[in-house]
Amino acid sequence: MKKPDLSTNTCGILSPNPFWLASAPPTNSGYQVRRAFEAGWGGVVWKTLAHEPIVNVSSRYGALDYDGRKIMGFNNIELISDRSLEDNLREIREIKRDFPGHAVVVSLMVESERERWHDIVRQTEDTGCDGLELNFGCPHGMSERGMGSAVGQVPEYTEMITAWVKEVAQTPVLVKLTPNITDIRATGRAAKQGGADGISLINTINSIMGVDLETFRPMPHVAGRGSHGGYCGPAVKPIALNMVQSLASDPEVDIPLSGIGGIQAWQDAVEFMLLGASSVQICTAAMHYGFRLVEHMISGMEDWMSEHGFEKTTDFIGRSVSLVGGWNELDLGYRVVAEIKQEDCIHCGICYIACEDGSHQSIRVEKVKEEDFLASPAGSHSAFEHSGGRRFMPGAGEGYVNVFEVDRETCVGCNLCSLACPVPGCIEMVEKDSGLPSMTVVEYHEKLSRGEIEPIRPPEDHR
Ligand SMILES: Cc1cc2nc3c(=O)[nH]c(=O)nc-3n(C[C@H](O)[C@H](O)[C@H](O)COP(=O)(O)O)c2cc1C
Ligand code: SF4
Ligand code: SF4
Repeated sequence: MKKPDLSTNTCGILSPNPFWLASAPPTNSGYQVRRAFEAGWGGVVWKTLAHEPIVNVSSRYGALDYDGRKIMGFNNIELISDRSLEDNLREIREIKRDFPGHAVVVSLMVESERERWHDIVRQTEDTGCDGLELNFGCPHGMSERGMGSAVGQVPEYTEMITAWVKEVAQTPVLVKLTPNITDIRATGRAAKQGGADGISLINTINSIMGVDLETFRPMPHVAGRGSHGGYCGPAVKPIALNMVQSLASDPEVDIPLSGIGGIQAWQDAVEFMLLGASSVQICTAAMHYGFRLVEHMISGMEDWMSEHGFEKTTDFIGRSVSLVGGWNELDLGYRVVAEIKQEDCIHCGICYIACEDGSHQSIRVEKVKEEDFLASPAGSHSAFEHSGGRRFMPGAGEGYVNVFEVDRETCVGCNLCSLACPVPGCIEMVEKDSGLPSMTVVEYHEKLSRGEIEPIRPPEDHR
């Protein structure tokens, strides 16, 4: 079978695959970008340029590890390029000459003066780059100087500066938005109004990484003092997905999107694309694992596309956008309940505790004699037996097994037990006939007022 075509077109910026390196340390120099393209990346957004290089602090990164996994969240107080504009522009020109088929987008940030923007746009486009990205997202340092998120938090500024850039730009202009705003649609619409060809999101989220309990210093610190920094990495992905979908579903935005935030595997990239992104950008994962990461991203996306019969990326971009809507559009007549696969259960009791203390007290526990349990159909196929008789029975006592069952009548189908269960697939959520018609909350209240339906109450308190 023919290999799927991974090429993408993000507002006229063509790329052999959707995987771009985000504007950040991995795109700081021609040396890095060359190695990234050789490794397989389809595009890059060059580390943000200004007229003058900035001075950075030391140290500048912090990370949140979770349960043995390193860098689940990443924080930085780094600024934009600390290299000269001339060096950067020369290297961009060389890279574009040597990799004509790859996407080379250049990120820009200058003071909010029309001539300054005109000048840097002209100088940058003279390199032959494929597009520009306006950094209206950096939440630290530059924002205190009236740039970055100081622009991206004010729709009027976003529109005004985008319009200045569009007065002279010859290549497509992406506006990169800050997530540090109440409703991303306000700045998404402003970017569109200003003439943006596309939108990139998200930049980093304002954060303090932590405090050292011995020294009382914030982390990271510079000579003992800290500053709010930008948060990114796997932990921010759900926030980014929500913002991408909000713009993808907004008819007043309606321009291509480049999705960013916590992407570390092809599955994450597919999710962003299903929710409307034409390309994706990656920073933290490339800093953590290196450029080779892209090999798995490419092969994983190709395999997934083949399995689903997709020949090209536009076959699935945006496919899930319309499946997300307002809460008020959800069906109150729909019900699921939890079902425990007894043969997979290791009798740890985690689901029981979660439901008992955190949900609706819908899991029953029965203390069963070990020999009786093993003689039962579930017991004879159970993980308990196949584990060589290991005793997975906290609290049951010697010679007994705790057997857990869901009470289908009181289970509200919240998912908590299945999320907490340590055995993949052991608790399934299965559909149950609620006896109710399919209806939104508005329809429910209409039916109630017409006396066509009884009030829906939570399951009876059984304690
Ligand atoms: C150390 C560091 C430096 C960054 N510098 C820039 C920058 O110069 N310009 C910019 O637009 N975004 C910058 N970013 C933000 C990233 O491009 C990206 O939007 C963010 O990290 C989210 O993606 P991720 O979760 O894959 O890291 C930086 C991020 C990090 C971690
Ligand atoms: S789905 Fe929720 S209510 Fe039902 S058994 Fe699990 S935790 Fe309890
Ligand atoms: S959490 Fe999972 S494995 Fe543990 S008792 Fe509940 S169903 Fe069994």
